[in-house]
Amino acid sequence: MRNLVIEIKKGKELPKSFINEWNRIMYKTFKSKPLSNFEKNIFFILKKGKKIVALGELFPLTINYLSKNYNIFGIGGITALVRKKGYGKSLIQGMIDYLRKRGKTGLGFCSKKNTLFYKKAGLKTKKELGKRFYCHKIKDEKNLSKRFHCPKSEGSGDGIYHEGKDNFLKKVLSTKSNICLNKPLW
Ligand SMILES: CC(C)(COP(=O)(O)OP(=O)(O)OC[C@H]1O[C@@H](n2cnc3c(N)ncnc32)[C@H](O)[C@@H]1OP(=O)(O)O)[C@@H](O)C(=O)NCCC(=O)NCCS
Repeated sequence: MRNLVIEIKKGKELPKSFINEWNRIMYKTFKSKPLSNFEKNIFFILKKGKKIVALGELFPLTINYLSKNYNIFGIGGITALVRKKGYGKSLIQGMIDYLRKRGKTGLGFCSKKNTLFYKKAGLKTKKELGKRFYCHKIKDEKNLSKRFHCPKSEGSGDGIYHEGKDNFLKKVLSTKSNICLNKPLW
């Protein structure tokens, strides 16, 4: 697409000014906390000329499921700063390309209103996959809803993913156990 360039950078390569800008945008869009431990995260910065038009990140994540470790990437922070111009789609396509070249699985969650966008952008989707994922750090039963993704959305979060060589999603979708994470859902 016209004049579009995607920059792909590790967190440790990025200047503090970018991290501050990222934190500002993510707080405004998702009320997210500032980044921490982001050195190994892969940031995708879609620019039109000098202007940033969409952002997203992949962060490394190890999930132990049914006694096997899967080293996958979480997909997060997907934001188009200018909407409905194809920038979100170009960003996701850049992320899929990155994952495909490395044979890696990428997994994210979204509210139902965005699922079709991800499908159109080329990711696979699975309704309410968030229900299967559980963060063992959050044990407070009174806050049950916080254990699952998207407490503010209608449902419990649809899954969006690109399957890598480890076939993690194939395993998850052909079995019924819950998946325990060492970080809260994103
Ligand atoms: C979701 C978001 C990233 C989409 O980005 P965008 O640049 O506006 O989307 P695009 O223009 O690339 O859309 C690509 C296609 O998806 C469609 N689409 C976009 N948003 C959609 C939505 N919410 N529901 C259904 N379809 C959608 C477009 O119509 C387009 O379809 P087409 O290819 O048939 O023309 C953007 O709306 C956004 O930043 N939202 C706020 C942050 C957010 O919710 N992020 C997702 C977190 S899970």
